[in-house]
Amino acid sequence: MTAPSHKPLVFSGMQPTNTLHLGNYLGALKNWVRLQQTMDALYCVVDMHALTQDSGYGHAKDIAQATREVTAAYIASGVDPARAVLFNQSQVHEHAELAWVFNCVARLGWLDRMTQFKEKSGKHKERASVGLYTYPVLMAADILAYKATHVPVGEDQKQHLELARDIAQKFNSDFDAPDFFPLPEPVITGTATRVMSLRDGTKKMSKSDESDYSRINLTDDADAIAQKIRKARTDPAPLPDSEKGFEGRPEAENLVNIFAALADESRNATIARFAGQQFSSFKNELAELAVAKLTPIAAEMRRLLSDPAEIDGLLRRGAEKAHALSAPVLADVKRVVGFVS
Ligand code: TRP
Repeated sequence: MTAPSHKPLVFSGMQPTNTLHLGNYLGALKNWVRLQQTMDALYCVVDMHALTQDSGYGHAKDIAQATREVTAAYIASGVDPARAVLFNQSQVHEHAELAWVFNCVARLGWLDRMTQFKEKSGKHKERASVGLYTYPVLMAADILAYKATHVPVGEDQKQHLELARDIAQKFNSDFDAPDFFPLPEPVITGTATRVMSLRDGTKKMSKSDESDYSRINLTDDADAIAQKIRKARTDPAPLPDSEKGFEGRPEAENLVNIFAALADESRNATIARFAGQQFSSFKNELAELAVAKLTPIAAEMRRLLSDPAEIDGLLRRGAEKAHALSAPVLADVKRVVGFVS
């Protein structure tokens, strides 16, 4: 349990990529926007994590551009830089510094259990970078450099967050500093926002899927959005009239979830609205809604990206705020560890 002595604080991050899609918006960004209304929040573009990807390493220009695109997507989706601290990770050196200390706290056995590393490193573990291996340690440092208590993440990041809790706990006990770090809690977004591929309702919508028809990119124009929805896989039956009717119909369930999330209504409300209808008419309405909700985001992203210097300035100011918040924590960490200062 997080002790009451720790002020509620939200931290989350996304890797810079230039293919943000509907899953990122409904699964993460919408939630971030909601959380910033009631809590202090930091939203980070984790560019140092991007170096662990083969496509990231050695592509400095791409990382810069992708960082700006993700920043633009945050803002266009409603993240407000006047409310939340919005910055890129590499500009705040406390993250890397704390990650080193945490590298000495975390155990090899803990990291060996991380399923994402196993998936990403594949058959050739010995060729994977050490950075990819310690990726979750840097993630723990991202969160704990601010003593953040709440971390909105998807299912796939839950294990990494548990590791962050283990690291916090071991640090507190090893250095005899009870309650120094909070044990950050996941804010798991509801199933309604778990967006699946439009081609296969059992797979997550993903930027790495070969088929562009599997996802709706945040930068897609109205025609592309409508066409992808029209071509989305379904089954011949009409829409069900209850939750039970989704059994064995992951594609139908996914499209209904997407509608409900975009319309800001419950799944049951969407089911009631379309019960018994054919997919062809449902898809027309879904396409109309998706176009209405997403094209303004794309337009705002384009507007923001037309002035990269403005985005860079905004990130720099965010980084200054983030530094001001994490520097005292790092100073305390160094004292607790016993470094001369
Ligand atoms: N690992 C996260 C992901 O890929 C990104 C991330 C890095 C993150 N640091 C974080 C998320 C800190 C939440 C908090 O989705």
